[in-house]
Amino acid sequence: MKEKLLIYNIGQLLTLKSSKDTPRKGKKLSDLGVVNNASVLIQGDKIAKCGVEREVLRGIKRSSISKEIDAKGMMVSPGFVDPHTHPVFFGTREEEFCMRLAGMKYMDIAAAGGGIRNSARRFRKATKSDIKKQTRTVLKRLLKHGITTIEAKSGYGLSFDSEVKALEVIKELNGKQPIEMVPTFLGAHEFPDEYRDNREEYIRILVEEMIPYVAENNLAEYCDIFCEEGVFDVEQSRKILKAAQKQGLKIRMHADEIHPIGGAELAAEIKAKTADHLVAISDEGIRMMAKAGVMPILLPATSFSLNTGKYAPARKMIEAGLPVCLSTDCNPGSSYTESASFVITLACLHLKMSPEEAFAAYTINPAYSLDRNHLIGSIEAGKMADLIIWETPNYREIPYHCSVNLVSRVIKGGKKVV
Ligand code: NIG
Ligand code: FE
Repeated sequence: MKEKLLIYNIGQLLTLKSSKDTPRKGKKLSDLGVVNNASVLIQGDKIAKCGVEREVLRGIKRSSISKEIDAKGMMVSPGFVDPHTHPVFFGTREEEFCMRLAGMKYMDIAAAGGGIRNSARRFRKATKSDIKKQTRTVLKRLLKHGITTIEAKSGYGLSFDSEVKALEVIKELNGKQPIEMVPTFLGAHEFPDEYRDNREEYIRILVEEMIPYVAENNLAEYCDIFCEEGVFDVEQSRKILKAAQKQGLKIRMHADEIHPIGGAELAAEIKAKTADHLVAISDEGIRMMAKAGVMPILLPATSFSLNTGKYAPARKMIEAGLPVCLSTDCNPGSSYTESASFVITLACLHLKMSPEEAFAAYTINPAYSLDRNHLIGSIEAGKMADLIIWETPNYREIPYHCSVNLVSRVIKGGKKVV
């Protein structure tokens, strides 16, 4: 018999349950499926029953329950699903943060040899075991902030061996700590030092060597690219991403982050699963993404950290019917944060999203973006028991009580992990 865990006396339960099996769009983005005076009964790693306490407890012998948690009237939500992270890196880049404080731009630091290439130089020299240690630290922090599933990208190796090293770190840490990582190959994060003057050769290596190896060895589910002025242009991106699709990888894209070069349009053309950042997206890009069913992933902590004052046009996207998602973009360059609550605060203040929209964009919608909507993202019978017990009775306190971690306990797969 699987162990039973009962969480009772929940003041406010955000179930995110809905009758329709689709990502939340438009007005539906605000529907959190709130139940007051609720309980959740967990059996093994799954949710057995949830809803109004009286109904959950009806017909259940209290003696058959092995563990109980009194939520003391506080709020319970699904664990956050963070659909865009770069957690596998080595060392940090605070010197570049100071260069930006002194007035230099993110892309100018990158063009001068810093940025992603700076991280790649450190990453290549580091051993797998040292990288694993640092990645574990990042994962622990993400978990403390209530994040129970992430999409995890490679992208600081920029060579066959080092990119494989990054994806192996992800694979080897899956199951060894509580967070589930969905792996994405991001070999096309930047052109490495040795191919600055022979970019076609790096593209050839990506297409003919790295992508086939990654796909054949099941090292990634998705392929991503930094499609941006000065990095991979639209034509190069199309070639690389089509090669990835041919090998069975699904597509996510860093698109239109700084310049509107047609990244969103390309995402729509090739039917990518997601297009991310989108600070500079065109109206046509929004229209095309809505038509093609590409999910936008918005990263306001990146805009905040780069201090550009420019944020993605979230309201326009919501009005166009796009199922918006939020994420940390946790990485050592443009967004060094593990805090989902902070991202929710920024989404409310700068993306003009409501607290309700922000919660849906951080739970059920990203679960769809990772093709795990049948398993995670909401609190429903049959789904994984991934949830957060908060220190507040009301979800609206999360964006309002800014930069404070109000996560009290985290349950992942039915086990208390924080
Ligand atoms: O999503 N924009 C490209 N990639 C990352 C940043 C990587 C870095 O600076 O290390 C991002 O912001
Ligand atoms: Fe990113």
